[in-house]
Amino acid sequence: MTERIRIICSHLPVVRTFADVGCDHGYCTRFMLEEGRCERAYISDISRESLGKAELLLREHILAGRCIPVCADGMTAFPETPDCVLIAGMGGEEIIHILSEADMPPSFVLQPMRNTDKVRAYLLSRGCRILKDFTFSDGKYYDLIVGEGAGGDEYTDWEIAYGRDNLRTPSPEFVQKLRKEQRELRKLLEDAALSRESREEVRGRLYRLEAITDAIEGDL
Ligand SMILES: C[S@@+](CC[C@H](N)C(=O)[O-])C[C@H]1O[C@@H](n2cnc3c(N)ncnc32)[C@H](O)[C@@H]1O
Repeated sequence: MTERIRIICSHLPVVRTFADVGCDHGYCTRFMLEEGRCERAYISDISRESLGKAELLLREHILAGRCIPVCADGMTAFPETPDCVLIAGMGGEEIIHILSEADMPPSFVLQPMRNTDKVRAYLLSRGCRILKDFTFSDGKYYDLIVGEGAGGDEYTDWEIAYGRDNLRTPSPEFVQKLRKEQRELRKLLEDAALSRESREEVRGRLYRLEAITDAIEGDL
């Protein structure tokens, strides 16, 4: 199990039914079943080959009827809405597509690889409550959003862009990520071929990152 998977697993709740959408290897579902954190698990993957990896890993649980594999788009082929859905390791727009095609589960754990701001805005528009929303690192940086399917919530524009916990209780990982992004943007600005429009856009992003870093460091 990689550090990323271990951190994701540490945020999965104890539930009756769990679903791992885009399960691929199936490690998170194995954790849920073998740690007694769910009674039944649904796993789905749109790729037959990826689902096959999880089917191999979870063979005993599938034979025992505790794990139900489906080769399908998102949650569309599950016979019931799971108590908790995990969708990890794919783009934010794909996560939004998957959530849009089904009833919202009572709880969710999402780890988008990009476009996390869009996922946040979508969850808020769907009336979800966000419990945790932070950046973690295993060498690379990832966002993790843990929440409930109902209850509603409100975010500022900055919280949608950067994650609420990152701004309210910034972790060293988040500050490192901000610094890394600033270095990358400064490098981009060194490129003389950058168009005026792109340069303005990059400067704007850099300015926002510097403002956040200054605000966080002012609080330390
Ligand atoms: C990079 S893997 C991530 C695997 C695992 N969730 C993780 O975080 O390590 C993404 C997986 O999602 C699957 N996938 C992408 N879109 C999907 C969809 N709409 N429904 C089900 N699976 C999907 C891909 O086939 C792939 O196996």
